[in-house]
Amino acid sequence: MTLRLGDIAPDFEQDSSIGTIKFHEYLGDGWGVLFSHPADYTPVCTTELGLTAKLKGEFEKRNVKAIALSVDDAESHKGWINDINETQNTTVNFPILADGDRKVSQLYDMIHPNASETVTVRSLFVIDPKKKVRLIITYPASTGRNFDEILRVIDSLQLTDNYSVATPGNWKDGEDVVIVPSLKDEAVLKEKFPKGYKAVRPYLRLTPQPNK
Ligand code: BEZ
Repeated sequence: MTLRLGDIAPDFEQDSSIGTIKFHEYLGDGWGVLFSHPADYTPVCTTELGLTAKLKGEFEKRNVKAIALSVDDAESHKGWINDINETQNTTVNFPILADGDRKVSQLYDMIHPNASETVTVRSLFVIDPKKKVRLIITYPASTGRNFDEILRVIDSLQLTDNYSVATPGNWKDGEDVVIVPSLKDEAVLKEKFPKGYKAVRPYLRLTPQPNK
């Protein structure tokens, strides 16, 4: 199944390192990051899962639940989690889906046969509280993901939803943001952006990040 931005993230029920997960129910009314790994006991994945565990506070601040996926079984995941905890000096605090039957991998198109017939590539989906897919990133198996970038995109999406702003290229938290072009009414602009804005061009209007 090909998923696109704006689609509803498919719901599923699957075994995991913490027992059966009903995906939509697990996410509740918060955000989610669903991300796949080629296999258990692989070096790059071990570092990624350790990193995700260490970013627990950052995910919580943004009301995001992480959920990983690998095509091995739950017993294998539990052994691997012990290894991750030991080697990455952390405690894995999120579930790893046990997708041995490739049910979720197929639903989310995580197997790219010309890369590998059997294991998932490094797919990542950000899902919003309405269960809409808001970000899709696919990395090759040999490249570990940049989790700072994933948090940066989540910050951008949440700013857009809450303040009608977009974020410029290479934007970092705290820098000026862009007012969405559809907002034109001066009274609304004054109310929404009390710190004012600078119109570099009528279509390019910068304002201080509203939640700072
Ligand atoms: C991995 O750790 O998942 C990995 C390492 C090298 C090539 C492909 C995958």
